Amino acid sequence: MQAAFGMSRSAGSIPLFVVVTLALLCCSVTLAKQRYYEFVIQEAAVTRLCNSRKIMTVNGQFPGPALEVMEGDCLAVKVTNKGAYNVTVHWHGVRQMRTGWSDGPEFVTQCPIRPGESYTYRFTVAGQEGTLWWHAHSSWLRATVHGALIIRPRAKVPYPFNNGKPPAREIPIILGTNTFFSLRSLLMNSL
Ligand SMILES: *[C@@H]1O[C@H](CO)[C@@H](O)[C@H](O)[C@H]1NC(C)=O
Repeated sequence: MQAAFGMSRSAGSIPLFVVVTLALLCCSVTLAKQRYYEFVIQEAAVTRLCNSRKIMTVNGQFPGPALEVMEGDCLAVKVTNKGAYNVTVHWHGVRQMRTGWSDGPEFVTQCPIRPGESYTYRFTVAGQEGTLWWHAHSSWLRATVHGALIIRPRAKVPYPFNNGKPPAREIPIILGTNTFFSLRSLLMNSL
């Protein structure tokens, strides 16, 4: 940098420096994307090990949808509750800088989303890379309402492993229960 600009340390070099800086700033701003998702909390029949049961899901999927984003992206996730119970969603590990109302613990940062209602979580994943997860932050619902949140480095930013190259293959692994006993009745009976 210094060598390049040292050549002409006259008044002319200042506008050039300003132009380069502005160009770099614009670049980094346009690289971050706005991402919009819709989560519908709903009961769905899910089959595992030949056993079919109705469980609470996001968009009928178990595990729920994996969100794949880049560091610096802005996320908006509209959660609509079509289930029969109050629910909130927590973005586990997301730092939530100045977006505390999107953190998700029910009765801590928000009132639960009542059946038939919706709430939009808005936050930025800045300064974080890796695989996190999201999950319901309401009682037993978290057992089945969860999924991966994959934050990749921005374009041209090296990965923090594998000599900076993207991995050859990625397989998200989510551990969950495959014995779908009734979580609700289990909880009610244990109280
Ligand atoms: C459900 O949520 C509403 C408001 O969000 C709250 O007033 C109510 O107490 C909640 N019900 C339960 C059973 O937590």
